[in-house]
Amino acid sequence: MEKVLVLGSINIDFVSFVPRYPLPGETLVSNDFGIFQGGKGANQAIALAKLDVPTLMLGKVGEDVLSDLALSSLQESKVDITGITKNQKISTGSASIWVNAQGQNSIVIYPGANGEVGEDFIFQHEKFFYDASWFLTQFEIPLKSILLALKLAKKHGLKTIMDPAPVREVSNNHIWELVDYLLPNEIELRELTHTENILKAIHILKSRGVKEVIVKLGKQGAGYEGKGTFNLFPAVPVEQRVDTTGAGDCFVAGFLYGMIQWGDIPRAIKIANLTASYSIQKKGAAISFPKKSEIDWKKLE
Ligand code: RIB
Repeated sequence: MEKVLVLGSINIDFVSFVPRYPLPGETLVSNDFGIFQGGKGANQAIALAKLDVPTLMLGKVGEDVLSDLALSSLQESKVDITGITKNQKISTGSASIWVNAQGQNSIVIYPGANGEVGEDFIFQHEKFFYDASWFLTQFEIPLKSILLALKLAKKHGLKTIMDPAPVREVSNNHIWELVDYLLPNEIELRELTHTENILKAIHILKSRGVKEVIVKLGKQGAGYEGKGTFNLFPAVPVEQRVDTTGAGDCFVAGFLYGMIQWGDIPRAIKIANLTASYSIQKKGAAISFPKKSEIDWKKLE
């Protein structure tokens, strides 16, 4: 199977499950608390590996107890961690997360070592681009490094996927022409294009050079532009949304798995919706993602 190179963040998530979000100045008691593997890069790498996709991760952690947790969970899921470096001077990235009774989350991240993934690191790891077929990244490491890695990906003939989360201002527009598949959610789409109109926003991104835009719409599902209209693929119904943290990451991995297996966008979106539906029914990000063997593939039909 085609191999994926993931460049991105590695966090440990500190998650409080709350009946509702606290007001400014208020102290609230949580119902439950957990420490989980997180980071959009690591989450997506783990989700791919759980789908039996050969996955190598490039990124940085600190030399601390959090990095031991992160590296062991990546390894347990069979992600190749030879491209992960330990940085002695700064701690592993972390995220403070509140999940409310509806399963919605609010996240504050501390980049830590993720912020140290510089251009020199990307150059040093160019050999990892040689035998991969796909390059996947997000917006949780420095943009300059993302741009350089996308250039290397194209130089070595990789197909590229980008999840523009957490969204931020992109001053160098050359980045877009290096992206084959962009997977924003509705908020990210609006922030990147300054329009509420989904189809118009897709056209703006395509005019900048993105080949395909797949829009994640949460509870509604996801869609893309086909033959001039927006084709929506509804989300897979679930009994209860326990924790939506990482659902977007699981979606991205499901989409990429679908593209590797079938090379067909509608089918890949359906697979992405299906994999994401599993992740929202359990607590935590990476730990909630389904293994290939746990998925009821009949639900696709
Ligand atoms: O996408 C969810 C992830 O965002 C969390 O795991 C958190 O670490 C942040 O990176």
